[in-house]
Amino acid sequence: MERRAFLVALPAIAVALRTEPVHAAPQDLEFVRAWERAQQLRPRILSSRARIAPVGEPGTPMIIAGRLFARDGRQPAPDVTVFAYHTDANGIYDERSKGPHSWRLKGWAVTNAEGRFEFETNRPAPYPGRTTAAHVHLSLEGRGLQRRWTGLMFEDDPLVPADERAKSAKAGQFGSVRPVVMRNGVEHVDLPIKITDEGVF
Ligand SMILES: [Fe+2]
Repeated sequence: MERRAFLVALPAIAVALRTEPVHAAPQDLEFVRAWERAQQLRPRILSSRARIAPVGEPGTPMIIAGRLFARDGRQPAPDVTVFAYHTDANGIYDERSKGPHSWRLKGWAVTNAEGRFEFETNRPAPYPGRTTAAHVHLSLEGRGLQRRWTGLMFEDDPLVPADERAKSAKAGQFGSVRPVVMRNGVEHVDLPIKITDEGVF
């Protein structure tokens, strides 16, 4: 899958009827509207550290330690709002009563002076009955930074396709298929992100 396709397809896959092409424009529009609806729940004051899965949520605890860099891959990118959401331990995004695109497990952080942000959450599971690798969706936006999307997959997930692994390896330290390290019952993932012109929508 092309990188662009990966970036676009991940949100769309979550919502698309299986018989429809995942890149159809109306779905993207619907997705953007859902994103906007979700932002109404954003806390007024954000910190560089936030929680996604609530305490007591079933699953394996996971800490995603992100660091956002400018296009040069060296300068940290501060004051960027990072919105992240993912599936629960059953691979489900939404509470049925709240409808599709309500994203039960979601959170917001803002990058600090070093570009760092951290999400405390649980490891997401793959969509039930599907072969899509487990993943986390992240949007980035800030003053002077148009909203864009990126994603995170896990190196130890057998569902991650070979082409995604190859692309990630090619991206070096900014690859989106990340190693997972278990420490004291918590899975840790480092997520360095470089701002690029991909994933803008
Ligand atoms: Fe997804």
